Formats: sequence, structure tokens, C-alpha cells
Amino acid sequence: MSRLIISGPYKFNDEIYVQGAKNSILPILASSIISRGECIIRNCPDILDVHTTIEILHYIGCKVKFEDSTICVNSENIVKNEIPEDLMRKMRSSIIFLGALIARTGRAKISLPGGCELGPRPIDMHVSSLKQLGVSVEIINGCLDFKIINKISEANISLPFPSVGATENIILASSICKGTVTINNASCEPEIVDLANFLKKIGVKIYGEGRNQIKVQGANKFHGCEHEIISDRIVATTILGAAATTGGAVTLKGINCEHLDTPISVFEEMGCFISKEKNALKMSAPEKLLPVKEVRSMPYPGFPTDSIPIMTACLCTANGVSILVENIFKNRFRHVEELCRFGANIKVEGNIAIINGVSHLFSSNVEAKDLRGAAALLIAALKSHGTSTISNINFLLRGYDLSKLIPKTIYKLEL
Ligand code: EPZ
Repeated sequence: MSRLIISGPYKFNDEIYVQGAKNSILPILASSIISRGECIIRNCPDILDVHTTIEILHYIGCKVKFEDSTICVNSENIVKNEIPEDLMRKMRSSIIFLGALIARTGRAKISLPGGCELGPRPIDMHVSSLKQLGVSVEIINGCLDFKIINKISEANISLPFPSVGATENIILASSICKGTVTINNASCEPEIVDLANFLKKIGVKIYGEGRNQIKVQGANKFHGCEHEIISDRIVATTILGAAATTGGAVTLKGINCEHLDTPISVFEEMGCFISKEKNALKMSAPEKLLPVKEVRSMPYPGFPTDSIPIMTACLCTANGVSILVENIFKNRFRHVEELCRFGANIKVEGNIAIINGVSHLFSSNVEAKDLRGAAALLIAALKSHGTSTISNINFLLRGYDLSKLIPKTIYKLEL
């Protein structure tokens, strides 16, 4: 079993160029198959989910090269319209290939993404929206077989919840519609805007991205393009969290400060000093953080659900009681039990975590249960005195390029 061995405490005093956004590069790589040409994508993070996505692109027939943060995908010859179960299981978010395969081939066969570390990952909104675009779906031995039965030209789709993945799949499947598809209650995440900017470059007309009503006018001719991925706002928040927890200071480069507005206000409430420059940010933390009255996760521009575990780790040693409320995923707090092995004092009641700050954390051997929970355990290990180990560390490596996060001198990776 893969594990990370960390010698703490480590006081962050670093200048870090933040990696490209995982939740941008994954849908953009999937969408590249719509272009039927060569797409050159820059600022790509070297993380496991990107390598899994490249495996899927190879499987369906693309030529892919990944060198020095640049991925070149040639999708001229697609030979398959299905994703094998083992790859679906490796990465639940391979559901983002659904809309791209339907747009490119008129068909997509995927296995049910199934429940996962964050709780059930239903796809009812994806299915009901695609049906409104003239796509049928059949379940054949545990696989979902999607097929265009009558190409819809116009549609007006209203999502019951601003689902990121469902918004992405609707945009992709609409890229071949003759008329205009309107998406109401669409996700406003920056990663949706990045995806829309990429799709515009390959020939799709999109309006309103970043707001809760998006209009897509499909095309019948597409071409390759060049694109640079936005910075990963969740990784940026993770680094800020590590610096805040260890009483250190950090300079982040290559970021868009606007994407970090709500996390920044929470770090300031915790007593951190933050100064923003154009694409950079400097933060210094007090020796002891202040508690936060309440942080609630909400769809963007609210506080991101993916950063709730980061905040849990930061607040373990704050000077008082803090409350975190998770409103997006059912099992967001699975890392809390492991944080308590470091000596944290946290109680979870339903979707609420009550954190009683303790004076210090001590090293421990813990187990990662999901991606952002693993990042929380890493922060706790950096705060703790002594050597800690985090097993199932592949969860962390799915979304973080460790070599760009902490110095090699303080950790050992056993894969
Ligand atoms: C995306 O997941 C991100 N993943 C997640 O990041 C992120 O936490 C999430 O959006 C919310 O911001 C990628 O972009 C690859 P949703 P996604 O559809 O699209 C429910 C990380 O750590 N729902 O917005 O799967 C769902 O169960 C990952 O980087 C339905 O009920 O999230 C959840 O409760 C984790 N039916 C809520 O909506 C559906 O058909 C939000 O899910 C779809 C979703």
C-alpha cells in the first residue's frame, strides 16, 4: 500500500508557483476529442488523474504527448466510444467523457460511476439533461449505453442543483446542436469558464459562462487550438492552509486571486495577513490561529466544498471553537477520525464539524480516505512533532504534484 512518511514540524516559508487546475484539465482533455485536430494544452499538472485521463484518450484512439507541463492531444482518429470499467473505477470523474463522446461519435458507453469516497455520486442530472438533448440511455449489464436518437436543435434545460459535472456534460453534448441550448441554474465555477474558453477556441459559441445561465450554439466544423489551464484554486488554498497552520509565510505565483476570495476572507478571520498582487499573493500567519465562527460550503462563489477538509486541519490548533458546515457532499468529513489520531478534538454531527482547538498535534500513522482528506492529513503531519505516515497516499497524488508542494528533504514516498 502506498504511503508518505513525513518528518514534522515543518514551518512553511516558501514561494510556490501553483499547479494547473485538476478540475479544468480533466474536462478540457475530454473535450479535446470534439476538435478532431491537434490541441496543445499548457500548465497541465503532473497528477494521477491526468495520467488516467490520458490512458482513456489513448484507449479511444487519440495520440497524446505529455512533456514539461504541456499536453498535446491529436484526436483525428477516434476508434472507440466507450470507457472500460477499470478506468471508470480509477477515476469517478471520467463521467466527463460522456458529453464529449456523444458529441464526437453520437454514442457513449460507460460503467456506473457508483458510490465513492464522498458518498453516492449519482448522475441523474446528467441523464435527465442529456435526454432533453435527444439522447437515449439503456442499462446493459451494469453499463450505461447513451445514444443520440434525434438530434435536438433547441433546448431549455434547468438544473435542480448547479452541478459542475452535469453543466460540463450538457455544454459538451450541446456543442453539435444546430440551434441554441440554454442551461439554467448552471454551475458558475472558474473551471466551467476555463472549459468554455477552450471550447470557443475549437469552434463552439458559448455565452454566459461564469453566470448561472449559459447559452451554447453548436457547430458542425471544429479544429485544434492552443490553451493554457487556469491555476488550481483548491491547491492554492491547501498551500495557504499549510502555511497558516504551521505559523509560516508563503508567496503564491501564477494564481487568479479572484478565484480565492472566500477562502482568503476565512484565512483573514483566522488572523492571517494577506496582500494580493496581479497573479500573486503573499500570506503570513500568526503563531496561533483564531477560530472561525462558521464556514459553510456552497457552490461557487461560495466557500468551496473541496477546501472544507483543509480548513478542518487548520482549525485543529486554533485558539477556540470553530464550526464547519458541509452542504455539498454527504461523506465530506471522513478524514476527521484520522485527524483525531493526531490529537485533534473534533466532533461531527451530520454535516457539521465542531472543532475544539488543542495546543499541539503529535505525529501519528493515519489512512487517507479521499483526495482532499489526504491533503488535510498532510497539513496535520506538517504541524506535528515527529515522524508521521499517511497510507493510501495515492488519493493525494490524484490531485497534487507533491514535488511542487513540499521540499523533498522532509518526506519519503513509498509507492
Ligand atoms: C466536481 O465534482 C469536482 N470534480 C469536485 O472536486 C467538486 O467537489 C464538485 O464539482 C463540487 O464543486 C471535478 O470537477 C472533476 P457536482 P462533480 O456534480 O461534478 C450531486 C475534487 O476533490 N449530484 O457539482 O461530481 C452530487 O452528489 C473533486 O477535486 C446529483 O445528485 O460535483 C453532489 O452532492 C471532489 N446528481 C452535488 O450534486 C447528479 O447528476 C454536487 O455535485 C450530479 C450531482
